Amino acid sequence: MIVSKISESDIPRICEIENRSFTHPWSEASIRASFDNPSDVFFAAREGDKITGYCLLSDYGEDGYLTNIAVSPEFRRMGVGRELMRFLIDYVSGRYSFISLEVRVSNSPAIALYRQFGFEDAGIRKAYYSFPVEDALIMTRFFTK
Ligand SMILES: CC(C)(COP(=O)(O)OP(=O)(O)OC[C@H]1O[C@@H](n2cnc3c(N)ncnc32)[C@H](O)[C@@H]1OP(=O)(O)O)[C@@H](O)C(=O)NCCC(=O)NCCS
Repeated sequence: MIVSKISESDIPRICEIENRSFTHPWSEASIRASFDNPSDVFFAAREGDKITGYCLLSDYGEDGYLTNIAVSPEFRRMGVGRELMRFLIDYVSGRYSFISLEVRVSNSPAIALYRQFGFEDAGIRKAYYSFPVEDALIMTRFFTK
């Protein structure tokens, strides 16, 4: 498995995984806008030339924000999410003082993954999500620069 930055030709596959992973997925236009935004960077995990999962990191200056992570359903529970997180933590270490994220309070697979990588609960954002409406758990991992 290789993790690397995506190129523009990867966007349709990113959209496909996004659509299969979320009840309220980002549109292709939003994904393209993010791809074109210099503060955002997409990383993809690949098995051969097939993208199995991706994550999106947003640069907020002093800190980073994990905007999204998703693994294609047929590749879940095979270590792809863990590999993406390992790459991400490596990438941000020394770059930021902390990295944060939001996750649905019911999303126990993702919360377990984040805890494995040292993310801790930082608070609850009420009714942050729609389809269905749900609170977000804010999680943060601090780094010593
Ligand atoms: C969350 C997600 C990215 C995990 O990816 P994955 O490739 O299946 O995860 P991995 O196989 O690398 O598992 C790593 C760890 O994640 C946790 N995990 C993953 N799937 C889990 C599940 N179904 N139940 C409980 N824990 C789970 C475990 O801690 C696991 O470690 P373990 O194997 O030692 O138990 C994947 O389930 C997904 O794409 N979900 C839909 C999109 C989503 O909710 N993204 C998060 C948005 S905030």
